[in-house]
Amino acid sequence: MSKPLILVTSASGKTGLQTALQLRQQGLPVRAFIRRHDHRSTLLEQAGAELFVGNQYSLSDMRRAMHGVQRAYQCAPTAPNGLHFNAVFAAAAYEAGVEHVVTLSQWLSSVDHPSLFTREVFISDILMAMRPEMTVTTVNVGWFADNYLMVLDMAAHLGIFAMPLGDGAVKKNAPPSNADVASVAVGALMDPASHAGKTYRPTGPVLLSPNDIAAAMGRVLGREVKYQNISESMMLKALKALPPDNYSEAAVSQLKIYADEYRRGTFAVNAPTQHVLKIGGRVPEDIETIIRREVSERTDLKPGFARTAKAMVGFLKVLATTAPNTSAIEASKDFVQLARSEFCQESEFWQQTHQPESQVEPESQIKPESPARMADSAA
Ligand SMILES: NC(=O)c1ccc[n+]([C@@H]2O[C@H](COP(=O)([O-])OP(=O)(O)OC[C@H]3O[C@@H](n4cnc5c(N)ncnc54)[C@H](OP(=O)(O)O)[C@@H]3O)[C@@H](O)[C@H]2O)c1
Repeated sequence: MSKPLILVTSASGKTGLQTALQLRQQGLPVRAFIRRHDHRSTLLEQAGAELFVGNQYSLSDMRRAMHGVQRAYQCAPTAPNGLHFNAVFAAAAYEAGVEHVVTLSQWLSSVDHPSLFTREVFISDILMAMRPEMTVTTVNVGWFADNYLMVLDMAAHLGIFAMPLGDGAVKKNAPPSNADVASVAVGALMDPASHAGKTYRPTGPVLLSPNDIAAAMGRVLGREVKYQNISESMMLKALKALPPDNYSEAAVSQLKIYADEYRRGTFAVNAPTQHVLKIGGRVPEDIETIIRREVSERTDLKPGFARTAKAMVGFLKVLATTAPNTSAIEASKDFVQLARSEFCQESEFWQQTHQPESQVEPESQIKPESPARMADSAA
């Protein structure tokens, strides 16, 4: 039997790139949906992936990308109209007769969530699973380790890890690496029969406090790094003054809500899980390893007077910036509003779906599936 062709959307993105590369390592044919050629598409090409350049909002493009596809990893970009991304994908996948999809959802996915982006993810989860002939595995991820890397330059040059994460001593997240999230998607894509209808919540190995993360940054950078709990307003000023790549104004307005969930301890509910080990077949990476890799790849984090001065100017720019009004942003973009919303831990349904079935089991009971064996079953 020939090997299934697997479509990976957002294939230049954080989890998509890793998913595509890991699938290629397993010898599976991959079509990588990207929107531009650059160094990431070169990596994909070198790994033997077929490139498809298109717009994920376009049903015509998605239909073309689906031609001959049997399985897919669907990752809607963090951008306005997430529901549109997933509706386009679902329509094209149903038409093409795709047999199995792994969809990147959110740990927070819940019906009446204050975040419109998250409510759209919840609706997308339902939409994706509506046709029984197309089986689905849902990957329900919390706050990525990658999010901390956005503020590494401040840590490297000013010794501050600044985020609105609340009390520095409280352990509130077990952050997964992009590669570990991808490993769970790959495990499910290689063996749909075992993973159809399942939801997985990949996490890193242990719960960490903001102080733990600052200490890990300090060890890697070789300097003292202190956690600074900043206000939401300061975070919004920073995001406006120094916007990260790929974050629209609309997405920034949602980050404020996600930081609130972080402080409420939602990402710590029944975390860590063993899904990276059990489904991905690998030991999850710890935060120090993730930070060390990033630092080794970035010359801008090396010490130096000019770099410190630049970081200081950036800091002053943040202080001088007025905080964006997220309610006004949401209103200007016609965000659908609910009369009454619920954070995750206020939702009975969310509580029920985050029960400790995914709790840590004793190491001795866990036997990760061998990637080689999984490759056989996919062939
Ligand atoms: N970050 C978190 O903590 C977190 C937590 C839970 C769930 N999530 C979920 O993760 C998902 C994002 O995953 P990710 O971080 O792996 O993705 P990502 O890094 O944001 O990548 C998205 C990719 O999609 C591409 N793209 C954007 N708009 C496009 C369009 N219209 N057509 C074609 N391509 C387009 C971008 O291309 P370019 O790079 O070329 O611009 C980018 O490479 C979201 O659905 C979010 O809900 C994130």
